[in-house]
Amino acid sequence: MIETVFKRDVHSYSDPERVRTSHVHLELAVHFAARRLEGSVTLTIGCPMGAREELVLDTKDLSIHRVLVSKDGGSYSDTPFTLGRPDQLLGAPLAIDVPRGASHVRIEYATQPQASGLQWLEPGETADKIHPFLLTQSQAIHARSWIPLQDTPGVRVTFSAVVRTPAPLQAIMGAQSRHVAADDRYEFRMDLPIPSYLFALAVGNIVFASLGPRTGVYAEPGLLADAAHEFEDTELMMSAAERLFGPYRWGRYDLLVLPPSFPLGGMENPCLTFVTPTLIAGDKSLNTLIAHELAHSWSGNLVSAATWGDFWLNEGFTTYIERRIQEELYGVERACMEDVLAFDWLEHELARLAPQDQILHINLEGRDPDENTTRIPYVKGALFLRSLELEFGRPRFDAFLRGYFDHFAFQSVTTERFVDYLESHLLRLDPAHASRVRLHEWIESPGLPQSTPRTVSVAFEGVEKAASDWLRGALSLKEIGARHWSTHELLRFLDVLPDRLELQKMAGLDRVFNFTSSRNTEILYRWLLMAIRNQYEPAYSKLEGFLSTIGRRKFVKPLYEELLRTPAGRERVERLYQRNRSTYHPITRGAIDKLLDGSVPEPRA
Ligand code: BES
Ligand code: ZN
Repeated sequence: MIETVFKRDVHSYSDPERVRTSHVHLELAVHFAARRLEGSVTLTIGCPMGAREELVLDTKDLSIHRVLVSKDGGSYSDTPFTLGRPDQLLGAPLAIDVPRGASHVRIEYATQPQASGLQWLEPGETADKIHPFLLTQSQAIHARSWIPLQDTPGVRVTFSAVVRTPAPLQAIMGAQSRHVAADDRYEFRMDLPIPSYLFALAVGNIVFASLGPRTGVYAEPGLLADAAHEFEDTELMMSAAERLFGPYRWGRYDLLVLPPSFPLGGMENPCLTFVTPTLIAGDKSLNTLIAHELAHSWSGNLVSAATWGDFWLNEGFTTYIERRIQEELYGVERACMEDVLAFDWLEHELARLAPQDQILHINLEGRDPDENTTRIPYVKGALFLRSLELEFGRPRFDAFLRGYFDHFAFQSVTTERFVDYLESHLLRLDPAHASRVRLHEWIESPGLPQSTPRTVSVAFEGVEKAASDWLRGALSLKEIGARHWSTHELLRFLDVLPDRLELQKMAGLDRVFNFTSSRNTEILYRWLLMAIRNQYEPAYSKLEGFLSTIGRRKFVKPLYEELLRTPAGRERVERLYQRNRSTYHPITRGAIDKLLDGSVPEPRA
């Protein structure tokens, strides 16, 4: 039974209560020189009952050539449409006249070069530097910049697609079936209903390596071997997640490693997670992100947040499951270390976020949903679930979660519906424990409840002690170096060092740990931040190289922000950003533009 509890999505012009799309068929040709996708989309809609209906679609920077309708999917005829005035954030509504009994609507259209959901890369911006590359990023509201559709996570559709691209480039989509029909024609199908933000396409020179019976990795040829090694535990992660939360329902799970300008760490496109190459550290130490994107196959893709204000249902659950997978594979201590690193980051954010932005069930009306990618929906959301786990015990909480995924499979849910389900399937069954759950405080209030569970890591206690002993002169760097810390321990060490360090100490650290030449981007990123804060010049050319190749917003934005705190740094930013701006993805570019428009951040005390 599918009940529909309707909540208006403030980020979509569509009105799915009147007409609802059930299937999307795409026919697209990829034109690299013009930076354009051109073709058509055919939407299968629930038949409108009235004399005629209006179907409103979301679009952003699309050129609409023609709109047609059909009653049987066979013969099509033109129908009137109007493209409304564009809004900077939401784009423009496309209102289509749909006569009684119509079942299909076809829109012939083309994208524009500035489409916010597309990134067109020159050969020089790829790993192999030979062929161009195209990638999409639809979440949160960018699908509308490359497909006119009902762009709300409350509507789920199956899809089929034909993509034409010149050989030797290959097209790939996040789909259950992928088929090469001719050397320039690729066909895809997704028979399970997905929300629009999971539509994904990439085109480039990519090759494949198998990781296990149901898992594999696609990457540019030059990266493939390293990627396959880095992500070799993917199949194990999948089995661990299945043991915990029920069957993986999407068939295959593959990864696509993107060029370094990919703006995110990862994106859980169905059957084909998109990942940044900055995870390839050589030692699998950053593969938690794979566990995260895989976990979205349950929390997010199977059961999806119905609006962007419910985003924490995707990310909080996923961050919780990500930890559980890590614990299964690598043990409790590694999961604890990651908890501590994440908690630290959450506390830093809580210190600077306005109270209304610290709420899980956030009000995003009039705001860009991409702004809600703070640690609140992720880490606060996961802590809430962890607190339920501790209160009710693992066996009961795991059974509850598994039941939740089964009950709402292939549906989109609001926070209100989740709360109803939680009350009826967990809280009401055990009033004594339930009375200690600060439900409203967790979901609707800023900050963290007093009862927030804190994780301790024994290994990190040693790291923290070593750091303070070194700072007060009681321990030498050589002795610390001899401890051969893991990546996580090194990350903790860098996190607990003070913002200000004498140059001589910086140089000492670099000598012992070779931070400036670290291959691990998480370590290098923290080190570069410290280098900027302390004007440690030996790391500057590395910093410039980093900002000229890597486009991951999580790294790039704080580095520019730190540089902007001094006049000399600002000059450097202006020079660097002028050179790099056009190579950054619209998501990263938008974040840096905003920094530069805003006031100069206060110098640190
Ligand atoms: N679904 C998100 C990425 C996203 C969120 C894109 C909101 C656009 C809007 C993805 O699963 C994610 O959370 N990625 C994180 C990595 C994760 C391990 C914290 C990222 O890219 O940093
Ligand atoms: Zn996520």
